[in-house]
Amino acid sequence: MCGIVGYAGYRSAAPILLQGLRRLEYRGYDSYGIATLSTEVCIHKKAGKVSELPDSPGILQGTIGIGHTRWATHGIPSDINAHPHQDCTDQIAVVHNGIIENYSALKRDLIGRGHIFRSDTDTEVIAHLIEEAYTGDLLEAVRNTLPLLSGSYALLIISAGENRLIAARNQSPLVLGIGDGEIFAASDITPLLEYTSRVIYLNDGDTAELRPDSYSVYFGDRPAEREIHEISWTPDTIQKGGFAHFMLKEIFEQPDAIHQAVHAVSEETLPSSLLNASSITVVACGSSYHAGMIFRYLIEPACGIPVRLEMGSEYKYASIPFSDVIIGISQSGETADTLAAIRKGICNNVKTVAITNVLNSTITRSAHDTILMHAGPEISVAASKSFISQVGVLMQVVNILSGGRCHDVLDHARYAIEQVLLTDLTEAVDICSKAEHIFYVGRGVFYPVMMEGALKMKEISYIHAEAYAAGELKHGPFALLSPETPAIAICIPGPAYEVMLGNMKEMKARGTPIIALGNDDDEDVREIADVIVPVPKGHPWTQVLTTTVLLQLLAYHTANRLGREIDMPRNLAKSVTVE
Ligand code: F6R
Repeated sequence: MCGIVGYAGYRSAAPILLQGLRRLEYRGYDSYGIATLSTEVCIHKKAGKVSELPDSPGILQGTIGIGHTRWATHGIPSDINAHPHQDCTDQIAVVHNGIIENYSALKRDLIGRGHIFRSDTDTEVIAHLIEEAYTGDLLEAVRNTLPLLSGSYALLIISAGENRLIAARNQSPLVLGIGDGEIFAASDITPLLEYTSRVIYLNDGDTAELRPDSYSVYFGDRPAEREIHEISWTPDTIQKGGFAHFMLKEIFEQPDAIHQAVHAVSEETLPSSLLNASSITVVACGSSYHAGMIFRYLIEPACGIPVRLEMGSEYKYASIPFSDVIIGISQSGETADTLAAIRKGICNNVKTVAITNVLNSTITRSAHDTILMHAGPEISVAASKSFISQVGVLMQVVNILSGGRCHDVLDHARYAIEQVLLTDLTEAVDICSKAEHIFYVGRGVFYPVMMEGALKMKEISYIHAEAYAAGELKHGPFALLSPETPAIAICIPGPAYEVMLGNMKEMKARGTPIIALGNDDDEDVREIADVIVPVPKGHPWTQVLTTTVLLQLLAYHTANRLGREIDMPRNLAKSVTVE
């Protein structure tokens, strides 16, 4: 949920740490801080975004340091609660991503032993515990402290007088970047890309000692060998490339993304648990959950395989028997609730398959099999190309399981998306940007498309947007219809067409302005709708993709009109590593 970065090398650490935090800001952005090592530990930390800091604070000397960008869990966003946190003597500094579950008891005991706390965070207990364990060797002090902690952590720690930094991981991602005479550590690879392509993914239980010219990894107190991976993502994949926002860039990357996703899996590489499944459970959160819902609408009629769909956060309460296989969908591969569901499946001897974008993420180490969707890094907090990629992978799974019937449709998917990227949405944006509430209505597979469209609208424009299966409207939500509450409806030829026309008329009769996603030449739709957003004719699967993209663009342009912080919406973070 937070981003951490560390550096040990020959250059001044502070600018590298700050640049790294800017790259990681999508993981959390309510406060930031860095600590560097010179003769003592020097700290700069503040509430607010690191991207708002014009330059490196010149006061921080030293070529070893650690940094943190925060998404608050314990304690409000403030200068005091920003990381790094220190012990009573200010000799030790700690940055932490994760949650220390037993921190209250630890804090009480520490206070009882005379420690003075300055923040409301769970992290600060770690600094005080290391202080108690420290007898001149930071690595040993950290090793003796870790068994006292319950919960999840990726930690970076420095101490005055020690020419090294110590890293430790448990259930929170941490990766090392191996440069020439310099070593990096970070929550993910994005801050490393401009310095090195050689990375080591630490395992749970690992600690590492990083010096400017060497590193050692340990599992417990024994040295451990960890493979060095060559990564293929390049620095330009994390630049805006001329677009005003990462989100717009990522929306425009979707023709390529769908192409990669569809080719991410074939009959030969499809996990056998899926090839032979007679029932499937899908577990995911947020946009990934919507992708799972689209999958259910597609696979059940095409293959007759029943799919149970669960939100990651609710799956822990489920007690009915499992299916043959559990698919966990997670762009980041780090979402705590989805990971818990995968673990629950494994404990119950169910085969598990992860669909994710991030190589070596925790889900890939937990599930029996992984399908990587190859969307490239997604920086904007709101999912766009990763969602399309998830849908692309899942469509390909349905295609394979149904004997390749939709092969040509998937081959055409990238062109279908290209066709809608430049759609003029001005009139629809005029209506949406003035609204306080918007209904999104659809039927069948277009219902989850609408759920995703509404989620995009609310998270980046802050307009209250609610998706309904069109048939549900009469069962209560109709009471909210008014001329001030526009409705967006998908009404394209198909099994639900006639009844959707009827639903739009019913809404129109209550004065509701209608934005219809429909065929441009459809006179019946034109008669009812205030605005038509044209959807190219085509196969229903490509229309799932094109309507999704149109709704992403509608949310984007509405949020832009309202001057919102599109890539970093308030209160959100990209990777939700807490339950
Ligand atoms: C919405 C969005 C979130 C994520 C959700 C799951 O735009 O990005 O709803 O989809 O937090 O994240 P992953 O897919 O990383 O498990």
